[in-house]
Amino acid sequence: MRTETPVSVKLENYKPYPFEIESVSLDFSLEPEATRVRTKMKVNRLRPGDFVLDGVGMILHEIKLNDVVLDLEQYDRGDETLTLTSVPDSFTLETDVTINPAANTALSGLYISGGRFCSQCEATGFRHITFWPDRPDVMSRFHVRMDADKSKYPILLSNGTPGESGDFSDGRHYAEWDDPHPKPSYLFALCAGDYDVWRDTFTTMNGDHVDLGVYVDKGQADRAEWAMESLKASMKWDEERFGRAYDLGVFNIVAVRDFNFGAMENKGLNIFNSAYVLANPESATDADFEAIESIVGHEYFHNWTGNRITCRDWFQLCLKEGLTVFRDQEFSSDLRSRPVQRIKDVMRLRGRQFAEDGGPLAHPVRPDSYASIDNLYTATVYEKGAELIRALTVLIGDEAFNKGMQIYFDEFDGTASTIEDFYSCFEKASGRDLSQFRIWYAQAGTPEVSIVESWDEKKSTLTLKLAQKTPPTPKQSDKKPVPIPLRAALLDGKGGQIEAEGWDDGDTVIVLDEARKKVEVKLEDGAQRPLLSINREFSAPVRIKRDLTTQQLLELASAETDPFNIWDNFQTLSKTEIFRLLDNPQSPPDADLVSALADAVRQNSPDPAFAALLTVLPDIGELFQEREPVNPTGLNDARKRLRKALATELKSDAERILAEPTPQPFAPSAEQAGIRALRTAMIGLTGALATPDAARSLKNLFDQADNMTEKLACLRTLIPIEGNERDAAIETFYEEWKDNPLVIDKWFAVQAGQGTAADAERLSKHPDFDLSNPNRVRSVAAAFSMTNLAEFHAPDGSGHKVIGDIIETADKRNPALAARLLTSFEQWKKLEPVAKASAKATLERLRDGGLSKNAMDIVARALD
Ligand code: ARG
Ligand code: ZN
Repeated sequence: MRTETPVSVKLENYKPYPFEIESVSLDFSLEPEATRVRTKMKVNRLRPGDFVLDGVGMILHEIKLNDVVLDLEQYDRGDETLTLTSVPDSFTLETDVTINPAANTALSGLYISGGRFCSQCEATGFRHITFWPDRPDVMSRFHVRMDADKSKYPILLSNGTPGESGDFSDGRHYAEWDDPHPKPSYLFALCAGDYDVWRDTFTTMNGDHVDLGVYVDKGQADRAEWAMESLKASMKWDEERFGRAYDLGVFNIVAVRDFNFGAMENKGLNIFNSAYVLANPESATDADFEAIESIVGHEYFHNWTGNRITCRDWFQLCLKEGLTVFRDQEFSSDLRSRPVQRIKDVMRLRGRQFAEDGGPLAHPVRPDSYASIDNLYTATVYEKGAELIRALTVLIGDEAFNKGMQIYFDEFDGTASTIEDFYSCFEKASGRDLSQFRIWYAQAGTPEVSIVESWDEKKSTLTLKLAQKTPPTPKQSDKKPVPIPLRAALLDGKGGQIEAEGWDDGDTVIVLDEARKKVEVKLEDGAQRPLLSINREFSAPVRIKRDLTTQQLLELASAETDPFNIWDNFQTLSKTEIFRLLDNPQSPPDADLVSALADAVRQNSPDPAFAALLTVLPDIGELFQEREPVNPTGLNDARKRLRKALATELKSDAERILAEPTPQPFAPSAEQAGIRALRTAMIGLTGALATPDAARSLKNLFDQADNMTEKLACLRTLIPIEGNERDAAIETFYEEWKDNPLVIDKWFAVQAGQGTAADAERLSKHPDFDLSNPNRVRSVAAAFSMTNLAEFHAPDGSGHKVIGDIIETADKRNPALAARLLTSFEQWKKLEPVAKASAKATLERLRDGGLSKNAMDIVARALD
């Protein structure tokens, strides 16, 4: 394979496209190995410049300009472009090409999954389908016609609403689709095949009728019901919360087994990884139901934030992704528990985005250059992008935020916009200058906020010295201060909050917008020293450093009134304790901490979803970020010791909780999911005891479990406990579910996530391991390298080797998949010397063996 040296695209070089394409007709004659695509576009010149189209890997038969066939001298075909230098000011252009969907293993463009046609065009898939200015600021009205063998492909779908259809005498049939909303090519979609359909309808707040369909594999219609319920809930929520209604008579979702990402928001025709559509009580976990709800919401919400208002260029990706993640998080918070949702979102942010921000792949939420656009769909763009919107709501208040959103929808509907456009709306709504806030978008790295408190007994004054510092990141050594909105409260230690001058009895927002700031809070004369609660609800995506002792933190934890901070105080305490245990291998875990944590779990058990989260200790990925060099094996041992102590303390509680019956009949409701979450947490703690007794009771629970959440939790917990129970559970689970690929993905993932490099290797040689299916590849490679860090970074290099081998082979078929897996190496420089050398050698071996452009971009930055 040829290794390309990535060339970078720069934001500062943005130039508007010289032409508009007012409309386009696409005509597909579908055959897996040779699909004919005839394109006819109506073009008008807007400004001087060549007419350049993108197009990769197609057989070009003919080009016509204003009905006249062009000679070879009249255009210039490059590797990835087609250029016409002299064109009239208005003209029609027709191209006629053949593509090979069956050979498309990269899953970008038009491809085949499970014998059906499907497409993925974001970001640059459309250029594999036809010649086109494949950039988001060229928006056109699409008309699609397709024909195919009717027996193999009875259902033909595209964007918009269906038009004419009919049969031919040779067994083929055709269908037309019309999308009245101008859109960029990345939102084009086409699906053709035989499906079962779950149908429903929705009436919008404007009284418009919408036909809804979820298209799945034959025989699986009933597994589409939850996705449909989630879709209707999303449609209603966007009307109520943002006043946004759906704008077409049809909305379809198609589930495909082979998909590089979670899902895609194509106009009126969302295409989903089947993992985020299919669910029923027997085969899906609560986490699956929750993920389906949130991803269906996410893609639906893109209809306004992404489709009606799209991005001018890919540097603005966070304009649609950060905002839409914020919207889906709000949706989940409204449907479920807000504090629990917040904790889960922060766990994800800290585990993935903080790690990215602290390593060689760090980049701003709006980068100013990239080598490969596919590699910009990152935790930073998505998750930190969402946090910035949330921080904005704290800074300017909900009212101004909501007003700003309405201005955004009104002013920018139908346009391809920028972050500047978006912020201009909030400047209008709030009457404030938000230019300093936009530094957040340009600067990589997680700001660190240090807080030092002092109490003047005589003056009853609390003084806070706040300071911020953002560590240097690649190519950005000097950082400016950003405005950090810190939600704060003063606690009285008896479960209440204290009022002070300038502080109401609710929360106050301290905005730290300089490198350092002093805040004085005057309390009533003779007042007791209050306890400071800060960054409540995680109001800003920063790391907080406070000079508190364990004793003070424990006090604070019991005085807290913000559920997020209760959880977070225990996270901080646990982190410190795990590092202490790492440095003192002989020392037993701190009994005060363990009993306080156990008490908190007990006290909060009336809110079982929240109590369950309290039992989760910070994971290795997060602990990783606090030390350099880091020894993941040692860290894992230290973490296990603390977890075992907690399990011992909660042993009788666990037995009692697990002896109770699980909720019947099953419902995927937040309420039932909460009960199962606490049961699952107790299953995990039982396993942490790692005794033969524990293995036996886990195996019993495994055998009795009547829902996938608990069954899988038992299996996961049994994996590290060698013995007959484990082997039997692995075996029976496989036998029971071997015909359900999504469940077998989980079977692979729990083993890779808990096993050794040898296990990962064995799994990668299993007959059901399939390099052409991204879900299956990730169920071994990502589960091992991203959730099992101690084994992945084992000093003997065995983990690096297995993953390196998988990536090397995967890259030849599917560069986007390989590039994503490579990000698991992003922390390599922090490793202790032996593992570090092995990680480096693996990256160099991959680089020297030749890689795709996507993979090379990651390796080059990681090694830089
Ligand atoms: N826009 C899709 C979503 O977030 C994801 C598309 C991923 N594409 C990519 N090239 N990584 O909903
Ligand atoms: Zn998205």
